[in-house]
Amino acid sequence: MMLFLDTGNIKEIKEAASWGVLDGVTSNPSLVAKEGRSFKDLLKEICTIVDGPISAEVVSVEAEAMIKEGKDLASVHKNIVVKCPLTPEGLKATKALTSEGIRVNVTLCFSPTQALLAAKAGAWCVSPFVGRLDDISEHGMGLIQDIVTIYRNYRFKTKVLVASVRHPQHVIEAAKLGGDICTMPVAVFKLLVQHPLTDIGLKKFLSDWEKQHLPKG
Ligand code: G3P
Repeated sequence: MMLFLDTGNIKEIKEAASWGVLDGVTSNPSLVAKEGRSFKDLLKEICTIVDGPISAEVVSVEAEAMIKEGKDLASVHKNIVVKCPLTPEGLKATKALTSEGIRVNVTLCFSPTQALLAAKAGAWCVSPFVGRLDDISEHGMGLIQDIVTIYRNYRFKTKVLVASVRHPQHVIEAAKLGGDICTMPVAVFKLLVQHPLTDIGLKKFLSDWEKQHLPKG
């Protein structure tokens, strides 16, 4: 499973990338707005840090404008994946961009039927938002299970990108269900490595080592 960071923050991306296990980056207009800088400059910088798929979302709502915007974003770097919303206009844009060889991440997916349409439009990946479904007492990971089953039944190549991840349990469930990609905030990414027994064990190893290697006398 590929691990992506869901952020527009360069410091967070650099820190996660330094671990050597970061495969890509996603963001959305809300995350990019927080950074207060030119979107294209931000994307260019991210592409110098991470050599993997970098999702960049369009903010147009009509297909024609989305296609124009998507082509412009894709021209920034070969690793850019254009994000289009799961609307009829977004599907039209996905079909058009995909037919020109531009990878599309169809975002704001909340149902299996939406995911089926994204795959039929040729999306490179679909982004189901598990946390936002959980927030309204729906079962976010149940949607992932449904999409994985449907895509396997028909051998769709569209990847399942588990998004709106809130905690490591979402990451574990995504991996168990066969999600292709999981994108998460840096706080969740950092939790993936933590275990108190690792800290306790390391502390003991080092103190035992020091006791044996203390200068004699
Ligand atoms: O970027 C898409 C998605 O991951 C947003 O997550 O936490 O705002 O629901 P969230």
